[in-house]
Amino acid sequence: MNNDLPFEQAPFSQPCENNKRAILDLLTGAFENLSQVLEIGSGTGQHAVYFAKHLPHLTWHCADQVEYHAGINAWIKEYPTPNIVPPISLKIPQERWPRPNDEAVFDGYFSANTAHIMQKHEVQALMHSIDEHLPVDGVFCQYGPFTQNGVFNSQSNADFHQSLIENGYGGYRDLQELQKWAPNLSLTKCIDMPANNLMLMWRRA
Ligand SMILES: C[S@@+](CC[C@H](N)C(=O)[O-])C[C@H]1O[C@@H](n2cnc3c(N)ncnc32)[C@H](O)[C@@H]1O
Repeated sequence: MNNDLPFEQAPFSQPCENNKRAILDLLTGAFENLSQVLEIGSGTGQHAVYFAKHLPHLTWHCADQVEYHAGINAWIKEYPTPNIVPPISLKIPQERWPRPNDEAVFDGYFSANTAHIMQKHEVQALMHSIDEHLPVDGVFCQYGPFTQNGVFNSQSNADFHQSLIENGYGGYRDLQELQKWAPNLSLTKCIDMPANNLMLMWRRA
């Protein structure tokens, strides 16, 4: 584990602090019967340490691009729990899809605030990969801002999308295109969350 970064220098996200309780309330039910969850784009690592602590029946695996690992590891070191696995390197699209170990597959996936940051082809690859690898009883919980039938649910979201595009990010994705990219999955729940975000829950159709 890369432990080089002192916790005082670890990245901090105020939105993570604001949204983690509301997200946990949903994950508690959705992930009730799961055992191996992969978080795609762990970011600072704040969500990971909080969710792992409150979902002790499962193992929480962090994943992100390597430049995020030192920060995630600093959070794990500060808030250790036995059921958290330090970040693996994941840059979608990735040819070799990760597994928790040689015998198991991930039965749950979580990803927050990644789809509007990734480029369109990356989100397409993310949805394809989960479509391919999610087992029958698995769940994919996807949190963030999205459009529905091309419509933004607030002016602030429309403005943020525009600023993302201007800064080279992929911008908001629409629920209909996500569904098209994951034809074997069903969007079983779409829940309104604070700050005009959504929680999407995908299961095998
Ligand atoms: C806005 S941050 C969100 C971090 C965290 N999940 C949260 O809610 O605060 C976006 C994350 O997506 C990750 N990301 C962007 N493109 C990616 C890609 N192609 N593959 C994997 N992760 C990616 C970034 O590295 C970053 O951690």
